[in-house]
Amino acid sequence: MKLLVTGGAGFIGSNFIHYWLREHPEDSVVNLDKLTYAGNLENLTEVEKNPNYQFVRGDICDPEVVNPLVHEADIVVHFAAESHVDRSIMEPGVFVQTNAVGTQVLLNAALEYKTRFHHVSTDEVYGSLKLGSDTKFDENTRYDPHSPYSASKAASDHLVRAYHDTYGLPVTLSNCTNNYGPWHFPEKMIPLFITHLLEGEKVPVYGEGINVRDWLYVEDHCRAIDRIITDGKIGETYCIGGGAEKNNMEVTKLLLKLLGRDESFIEFVKDRPGHDLRYAMDYSKITKELGWKPSVTFEEGIQKTIDWFKEHREWAKRCTSGDYQKYYEQQYEQRQ
Ligand code: NAD
Ligand code: DAU
Repeated sequence: MKLLVTGGAGFIGSNFIHYWLREHPEDSVVNLDKLTYAGNLENLTEVEKNPNYQFVRGDICDPEVVNPLVHEADIVVHFAAESHVDRSIMEPGVFVQTNAVGTQVLLNAALEYKTRFHHVSTDEVYGSLKLGSDTKFDENTRYDPHSPYSASKAASDHLVRAYHDTYGLPVTLSNCTNNYGPWHFPEKMIPLFITHLLEGEKVPVYGEGINVRDWLYVEDHCRAIDRIITDGKIGETYCIGGGAEKNNMEVTKLLLKLLGRDESFIEFVKDRPGHDLRYAMDYSKITKELGWKPSVTFEEGIQKTIDWFKEHREWAKRCTSGDYQKYYEQQYEQRQ
């Protein structure tokens, strides 16, 4: 099978490419990525020379780039997005452009060439749950996005379903909870806090740290997408979750303990505007229909992630300094 992976130089996309080429060595992967600040080709050095892997720098909003690549592919696995909620509050326009318009450009191409489309989305489209309740999101939860990020992802989900319902495009969708693990860009909470604590810096906890997220180790997300691509039913949505609800203070205290720092390393800062209180996912549909469930507990996953960040301190420092953006020029530009 030939996969066109969009956003493969980002956190989950790069983990997915490593996963796919390892688990399906007979398949080929083309990685289309614009290399925004979140795209880092250093994440993919181990597969760079694999003959079944190809990188193309380009924008999913540009049909001239997208069309021939979709034409060549058997399936589009669509990760590319602006993904950081805080940035969406500062600069919503680029979120609408990439997440909504970019998805529609890809859908048009998929329709033209009758290419299957898997859309990777988020639990944030469902809004926020009550603290202390045991309600969870599932495939039937009404959409209620609150940030420009989640609103633009909701728009993309609706477009994907519209292309299926209106034109019969073969699509599947997945909505997943918070991921963490290797190659996680140190602007999101877990990698930011680990890198700060490793370097002896304080960690900025928003508000009182009471917000709850449902954490999933990234490789388990990749495995869930594999199950959907392989055996998922066309037209269906699958919710993916970690079964690991933690509030931000619980996560912060665990990281402090595992990294040998005390609570003087916590700095409470101004809360995020419109900060969703709680996310939690009922993932029983994918368990029942496709036999998937998380395989890594939060405690195991966080230890693996800390170990990875300890071994990749220079990678994280290059992310923070911006030096990682020179990698493309050094490794790729001169070859073209
Ligand atoms: P990321 O920000 O780490 O990576 C996004 C990638 O997309 C980057 O490599 C970036 O260069 C690329 N990109 C951005 N705009 C582009 C454009 N116009 N054209 C081509 N490439 C472009 O994101 P992530 O955390 O890996 O998330 C990947 C996907 O998974 C997103 O769609 C996100 O909404 C979804 N998701 C993320 C999480 C999470 O916890 N991170 C959870 C659920 C769903
Ligand atoms: O739920 C899935 C979503 O998870 C994905 O769709 C998003 O792409 C991804 O970024 C993530 O969104 P969150 O906003 O939940 O993740 P973030 O790591 O930014 O924040 C996690 C929690 O930690 C949230 O309650 C805000 C808080 N936080 C975050 C940062 C960056 C802090 O307290 N301090 C921080 O510095």
